[in-house]
Amino acid sequence: MYIFKTAKDLNRHLQIYRDKKRPVGFVPTMGALHQGHLSLVKRSLADNPCTVCSIFVNPTQFNESSDLAKYPRSPERDLELLHNVGCDVVFMPAVAEVYPKGLQFEDTAQLDFGSLAKVMEGAHRPGHFDGVAQVVKRLIDIVQPDRMYMGQKDYQQLLIVRSMVQQLALPVEVVACPIVREADGLAMSSRNQRLTAEQRQQAAAISDVLRQAAQWAAVHTPEEVAQKALRALEEAGLEPEYFTLADPVDLSPVHRFSEEEEAVMAFVAARAGEIRLIDNGLVKKG
Ligand code: PAF
Repeated sequence: MYIFKTAKDLNRHLQIYRDKKRPVGFVPTMGALHQGHLSLVKRSLADNPCTVCSIFVNPTQFNESSDLAKYPRSPERDLELLHNVGCDVVFMPAVAEVYPKGLQFEDTAQLDFGSLAKVMEGAHRPGHFDGVAQVVKRLIDIVQPDRMYMGQKDYQQLLIVRSMVQQLALPVEVVACPIVREADGLAMSSRNQRLTAEQRQQAAAISDVLRQAAQWAAVHTPEEVAQKALRALEEAGLEPEYFTLADPVDLSPVHRFSEEEEAVMAFVAARAGEIRLIDNGLVKKG
């Protein structure tokens, strides 16, 4: 496994693949890797002769400085996990390597994500998606992958990145991969490591509520489903931020379940103590 810290060294290595027109797969991460990340790496390894995984805790996407400071970092363990799954290349740049012109890099400032960026995470974490678009654009510029693999736990992020790729006509295919869950249903997340034993138990309610919401949706209105879900999250000892039923394509809120075959997804953000967790799931099939 090759480990590069600079774009120059990474590109010297990847040029061999580009010259032979052999596709490069890319998995962007912020480290603190878990089986969810590794499932993306494995998918890329199956699809491409070369897989690059980046580990970069992007300062511009944290709207709370304490969240950035406390974001879990375990580079040595990450490298071991990547080595064990057979990852080809790891890119671990410093902040100045990704943002040589400073954090106010303007490349993505003209993008318009419309309502996609105004709801849910966009509403609760101001500036977060600007930071995500900024870093993903920089990483795509550096790695120049043919395919990029992203998890559906961050479903809204996935739609924002797809929109950016489309708006800027970037030559990369964005491949969405399923959420990987713990045995009790909790969606895997680097933040799970920070949960106390009690919070970890409470956090299992998030996926339980999503599963129940699919049943409630058969007999209740979207508003009733959301109210029941919020109550259940509170009863489990969590502090819910939102529980929203939305269209999976444009994230517009769903106010009534139609008879038509239109899919509806539920999106949830809740805090266990100071740890903020998100998850989502289909409540009505299309
Ligand atoms: O999902 C993440 O881990 C991050 O938002 C990403 C896509 C690696 C950008 O920093």
